[in-house]
This record gives sequence, C-alpha cells and structure tokens, in this order.
Amino acid sequence: MTIKNAQFITSSSHHTQCPAPDKPEIAFIGRSNVGKSSLINMLTGRKKLAKVSSKPGKTQLINHFLIDNQWYLVDLPGYGWAKVSKSDRSKWGEMIHDYLLERKNLLTIFVLIDSRLPPQPVDTEFIEWLGENGVPFALVFTKADKQSHNKNQSSIARYRKYLKNQWEVVGPIFLTSSAAGDGKEDVLNYIAHCIDISPEISS
Ligand code: GTP
Ligand code: MG
Repeated sequence: MTIKNAQFITSSSHHTQCPAPDKPEIAFIGRSNVGKSSLINMLTGRKKLAKVSSKPGKTQLINHFLIDNQWYLVDLPGYGWAKVSKSDRSKWGEMIHDYLLERKNLLTIFVLIDSRLPPQPVDTEFIEWLGENGVPFALVFTKADKQSHNKNQSSIARYRKYLKNQWEVVGPIFLTSSAAGDGKEDVLNYIAHCIDISPEISS
C-alpha cells in the first residue's frame, strides 16, 4: 500500500469527540519520545503532518488523520513521561483506556518500543493491559538507525521471548527507522491486511 493523501482532521480529549467511527482505524502509541509522530510522518510521506519534538509530551490529545479518504490513522499521546503529574497520568490513562475499549472501528494498535532498550515496565504493563482486554496490537521497534543490525535483532529476540512467556500467540513485530525510512512497506502492508480482513464498518 502507498499513501497518496493524508490530512489532519481533529484532536479530541475524549473518544466521544472523535470523528464518526465510519471508517477503519489504526492507532499508534508508545512512551513519550519513542518516535510515534515521526513514524506517522514517515508512513504518510509528509514531513510535518504530525508534530515532532525532541521534548517528550508533545502529543497530548487523540489526533485523527484521514488517509486516502478510506481510513483513519491516529496519533496518541505518549505514556511514561517522568515529568507528568499523577493527576495528568490518570487523565491520560482514562482517555486512552476508554478510547481503546470503546472505539468500535479500531482495527489494531501499534505499540512503539525504542529498539535500544530492554523491556521496560511502562511498556510491558501497557502490553499486558492490551492482552487482558483483548485489544489487538502489533509491536514496532523504532530508531533502528541508532544501533547496529545485530543489536536490533537481539532486542527483538528478547521481547519475543518475554511475550512468549505471557501468551501463546505473539503478534506481528516490525523494525523501523523514521530517519532512514526502514520498515515503511512492512508496516503499510500490514495495515492494508488489517483493513482487508476487517468486517465492513458503518456508523
Ligand atoms: P510524544 O509526542 O512526545 O509522545 O513523542 P513521539 O513518540 O511522537 O516522538 P517524536 O516523533 O516527536 O520523536 C521524538 C524524537 O526522536 C525527535 O527528536 C525525533 O527526531 C527523534 N526520532 C524519532 N524517530 C527517529 C528515528 O527513527 N531515528 C532517529 N535517529 N531519531 C528519531
Ligand atoms: Mg508525538
């Protein structure tokens, strides 16, 4: 799949404010600064579609982008940002958990993981929550350009092992670099596959 057109639609602080759930939807999440917005720009081929910042916590709301008039791509705010207050953290939890549980057109969520780090509790706890609540997900390892091929492979192997200890089936895993454009086709093809096999969605 190639993306021809991508446009920002709206930012929402609650799932009920999101656009009508009348098109398939794919969301991206992960800890602050992991590279969600950068990956969205890489996938859509638009440098400034989603706002990128070296300062964590840039994305604070549920951001909908309409892709080729056919599906929604969603940039979600990051978790695990140390400077966030407890009340902001619980607000984040409520907003994201409600969205993930209630959004009926959501086909899958990509959980982004920094390929340089061993499994971190903020990530593994979130992944466990997804598993327990039956939210389909795929893992995307980001910033592959920042370390060697071998280190990337051992990071992925370590995660796979961790996931296999939790569940019988391990979902798809992708390795990407927004800086180098790596993994673009794999991720887009997987999105196309999810849309292909989804039941027809209507509002
Ligand atoms: P929040 O919106 O704060 O949750 O962050 P985010 O996950 O959207 O991260 P963002 O895309 O804003 O990127 C954070 C920083 O990482 C920026 O300085 C990016 O330039 C950098 N970055 C993102 N992806 C890559 C990558 O693949 N390679 C390299 N080298 N840097 C990257
Ligand atoms: Mg962002």
